[in-house]
Order: sequence, then C-alpha cells, then structure tokens
Amino acid sequence: MESVGVGLLGLGTVGTAVARRLIDEWELLGERAGATPVLRSVAVRDMSRARDVDLKNAKLSDDARAVVADPALAIIVEAIGGTDPATALIESALRAGKAVVTANKAVMAASGPRLLGLAAEHGAHLYFEASVGAGLPIIGLLQGSLLGDRIAVLDCVINGTTNVILTRMRTPGTSFDAALADAQRRGFAEADPSLDVDGWDAAHKLVILAWLALDAHIAPEAVDRVGIREVGGADVVALAQLGYRVRLLAHAERASEGAVHLRVRPTAVATGQLLHEVDDADNAVIISSDLAATVMVRGLGAGGASTASAVVSDIVTAVRERNAPPARARSARPDVALMSDEDVEVAGYVRVRLSAEADARALVLQALEDRGLAVDAAVDGSESELIVLTGLAPRAVHDRALETLDTLTSVDKILGALDRVEA
Ligand code: HSE
Repeated sequence: MESVGVGLLGLGTVGTAVARRLIDEWELLGERAGATPVLRSVAVRDMSRARDVDLKNAKLSDDARAVVADPALAIIVEAIGGTDPATALIESALRAGKAVVTANKAVMAASGPRLLGLAAEHGAHLYFEASVGAGLPIIGLLQGSLLGDRIAVLDCVINGTTNVILTRMRTPGTSFDAALADAQRRGFAEADPSLDVDGWDAAHKLVILAWLALDAHIAPEAVDRVGIREVGGADVVALAQLGYRVRLLAHAERASEGAVHLRVRPTAVATGQLLHEVDDADNAVIISSDLAATVMVRGLGAGGASTASAVVSDIVTAVRERNAPPARARSARPDVALMSDEDVEVAGYVRVRLSAEADARALVLQALEDRGLAVDAAVDGSESELIVLTGLAPRAVHDRALETLDTLTSVDKILGALDRVEA
C-alpha cells in the first residue's frame, strides 16, 4: 500500500498520544485512509527530555523548520500550542502545499480565516477538528452537517480544566489549587494554566465556533471574558443547594440586526438546563438553529487521548484527500458589529451579608427593584446572608444595582455575584 509521510511538531501530551496511535495502528489507519500515514519525523524543543513513546523508525530532532521543509513529508501535524512559533510553521507548511493538521485553538482563533485562505492559495489543506472540544466532532458538524442552517445561538462548556475545578468546588472545603493540580495531572490544563483559569482558552474556542456557526470572525480580545479566579467556593456550594451548578459558560449569539455577542463568564446553570449535568472534564456545545432546532454534542473535551482522536481522524482525512483540491474556506465577516456587552440581557445571582440595620432584607430587595431588577427569589442563609436571584435585565442594569447595594447601609458586604441561566 502507498505510504504518506507525516511530520509531527511537538511531543507533549497531545503529540505523544498522536505518535502512539500512528505507530500502533498504522495498518488500521492505512486501510481506512487508502494509503498508510507513516510517522517519519518528530520535532521537539528539548531533546534531552525522557519520552513516553517508542518512536520506532521516526527521526527525532529539535529542528521544526527542517521537518516542515522536508519534501518526504506530505502532512505536518502541529501539536506545539501557543501562537509563536506555531503560526509561522503552519504558514510555511501551507506555502509548501502540505496538509496541516493542528490542535491549536490560539492560532485558529487569531488567524483561522487567513490561514484557510493561505491554504486555498497554495492548494493545501488545513484541518483543525482538535482545536475545540478535543475528540468531540464539533468542527465537522459546523463545517458539514449544519451547512444548510442559520445558527442563532451557541451555549458551551469548552474548557475541561475549569470544569474540573468548578465541579470539585461543589464539595465544601475543596482547595482551588488542589483541583487545578488534579486537572494538570490528568493532562487537561494548558502549559500555562492561567489560559484556562482566566477564560482565554474558552474564548479562543468560542471565537472558532462563532466563526464557523455565525460567519463572524471576532478577535479573541473582543470577547466579554471573565475567568473563574473570583468564583468563591461558598457561592458554588450555596448554588448547589439551590439546584444550580457553576460552569464557565461560553455563549455566542447573533441578534436579529446582525450584530454578534460572544462572552465567557462563570454562570450558575439551573437543573434541567442541558449544561447542568456536564461535569468534570466533559465539554458540551449546544447549537440552536432554525432548521435542526437544538443540537447538542457532549463528551470528554480535553486530554491527550481525546485530542489525539480528532488529530488522527484529521490525518486519515488528509491522506484520503491528498489529491483533492482544498474545500472552500468558510467565509467570515471581520467587520461584523458587536452588540454592546452592557445591553446584553442576563439573569443574576447575588449573595450579600446584611447589616444589623432594621429591615435590611426588605431594603435590599426594594433597592434592587428600584434599580430595575426583578427579584425572582430571595433565600435566607445563615449568619445574616441573603441570596437573591435577579431577573433578566441588561448587564448594565445588574452592574448599577450591585454598585447601589455596595453603598447601602443595609448591606455589610457583597459576598458573590454571578450570571445565571434557567432551563
Ligand atoms: N486546556 C484545555 C482544557 C485542553 O482544559 O479544556 C483542551 O483544549
């Protein structure tokens, strides 16, 4: 059977899992692809590091540029992560007409439409199923099965690390650092975990999904992004008692006037809402569209094995399509208007400690209503705590109401505040 040379850049968690699969299952993959993808060359940053995979006949070097330039390699797999030097390496491979398979969400979020244009220019293919949701087939779904739909809304949990942390925080007394260490040990966290914790990783993935679903390419910096650093354990526990689970919700929508809104924020998700049950390292993407209505993809969304599933699938596709012209790149309007974050309607949760002032509870609820916020529920906690579930209103209204609470003598302290979604 014909063989097709594969070069791999990076031998971290993802690269190692990909190499292992290519080496262990070459025969099966060859049968499926119609020609055998053969791992011939691997580039790493640090040659002295012990490796967890037997590379057999593949050559190991620290020269990624030489791997990209090697004419014996028709497919380049980029598993380095980060934008530099990954972007330049991908560009060189595409310019040389090679197929590129990448798991790199930072690169695809920042430069996806441009790189697909470059690929088309050079008759090259660029595959990136692994960039969002690891092994979940979400890119294929948006680039294939739903091409006839108009998609209005995406609601997603697309960062495994933060979901592991938030899930563990429901157990009172869990330390944030211990939960993060668990996510790192299981191979879910980024090399720099602040990308996970501060919401950047989810923002990158949301930008990619919104580009494919809403035809709007937004800069990652323009996403309304709040990470999970400020989420208090006491809020996660109190919300759990009320039937809510806190998720780092990634939400994208297109308003009827065409403007789009992308946000990544910790959000209390009610029982019955589809993202409520998505615990631990599971990811989920819910697509709301005009024809297919609600489509949900859910499953393990991080880690070496799950990411390798998508990367290796893309390699098989690259072998199959090696003589085909590249597919038409999904158009993306870079000039699309953004909805003002302040105008976007959200529901809320706020937990305050009341002061000893007479009628403090009633005064707080009155103050919220005076500021235009409906009180959906008010729940008394121990030690003068009051939890209020506030109704749908523009974010600016919520922000102003919280500022007011901060100044009230009936309020000792605002202990926590979050967005909230109902079923
Ligand atoms: N750090 C990412 C996560 C890896 O935790 O989801 C998968 O992209």
